[in-house]
Amino acid sequence: MSNDTSPVAALISTSDSADAWAAALKALEFPIPLEIWPNISDPARVAYAIVAKPPPGVLAGFPNLKATLSLWAGVDHVTIDPDWPAHLPLIRMVEDGMTAGMREFVLAQVLATHLQLPDFTRQQQVSHWDDHIRGDYGMEPLTDQRTVGMLGLGVLGSVSGKALALNGFKVMGWSRSAKTIDGIDCRHGAEGLNAVLAESEIVVNLLPSTPETANILNAETFARMPKGAWVINVARGEHVDDAALLAALDSGHLAGAVLDVFRTEPLPKENPYWTHPKVTVTPHIASTTRIRTGAPKIVANLLNLEAGEMPEGRFDVDRGY
Ligand code: NAP
Ligand code: GLV
Repeated sequence: MSNDTSPVAALISTSDSADAWAAALKALEFPIPLEIWPNISDPARVAYAIVAKPPPGVLAGFPNLKATLSLWAGVDHVTIDPDWPAHLPLIRMVEDGMTAGMREFVLAQVLATHLQLPDFTRQQQVSHWDDHIRGDYGMEPLTDQRTVGMLGLGVLGSVSGKALALNGFKVMGWSRSAKTIDGIDCRHGAEGLNAVLAESEIVVNLLPSTPETANILNAETFARMPKGAWVINVARGEHVDDAALLAALDSGHLAGAVLDVFRTEPLPKENPYWTHPKVTVTPHIASTTRIRTGAPKIVANLLNLEAGEMPEGRFDVDRGY
């Protein structure tokens, strides 16, 4: 250990490539020395922690920490640690690459669902030709005959919802507070949720994982959706009551689900979602922070914090997101 007591930033990642992030940050002339965990010269020097799935207890080992900067948009990978420093700023990732990636993924999955592409993939697997499953010739619905419900109208939900509206879909959205967003019929509160679910043939979930949103996709909310509705979950596995989803799919009430996130990741091989004929599984890839656009954001956030200004995306302990 050296006698140097000047502050450093620690990059702590068990999920994303620490080397790639460190190279990108250093290329941007990162304002303070950067050390990659677990090679930290002196825990007392760590003023900022830049994190992706930090092991529980690591953050509590930095006595002079000033803030935690998440490489992920959701910060449950930090708050799951019972010892995370909740009295200090935790800044979630808000950056254009992540937002554009989610917009693309949601648009692709909603269009694929609208066009019933998974059904045609299944037909091909059994060499079966049925050219009427989208409706009789001339009757196949277009996007303006399809309502999509967006649960969560934050950074990712609002941009994805607007893209769907630009592609012709009727879009309803739900958030905690009242909102006005071009192209989206915005609702809030319990009544608002019921209205969105009742109208939506495709429900996209982009809520944060909080005690209030846990299991929000459950038997009761599925029952409020029209028969034949689809669920696209790109938020967190904790939002879904898995037994209720499987029951709603098996009863025929729901027509299908696209699931990108799960309570246990990687999804265990024996999980029934893998082989369910009405489920599309993707391995938590709906969107990621792009290093190209995310690294400058980390630098800007750190400079803001050093200047005594709070960057956008501060986690609110009381709201839980
Ligand atoms: P955000 O900007 O914080 O937006 C959250 C939205 O949810 C807001 O509109 C908020 O309402 C609403 N909300 C929160 N609690 C609510 C409640 N109890 N009732 C109704 N609405 C509620 O978050 P974001 O950046 O859009 O990200 C959303 C989530 O996406 C992340 O937390 C993460 O879990 C997930 N994600 C997944 C991937 C992936 O690859 N699958 C990638 C990135 C992120 P207000 O507007 O009223 O505050
Ligand atoms: C990914 O799921 C994220 O929260 O960034």
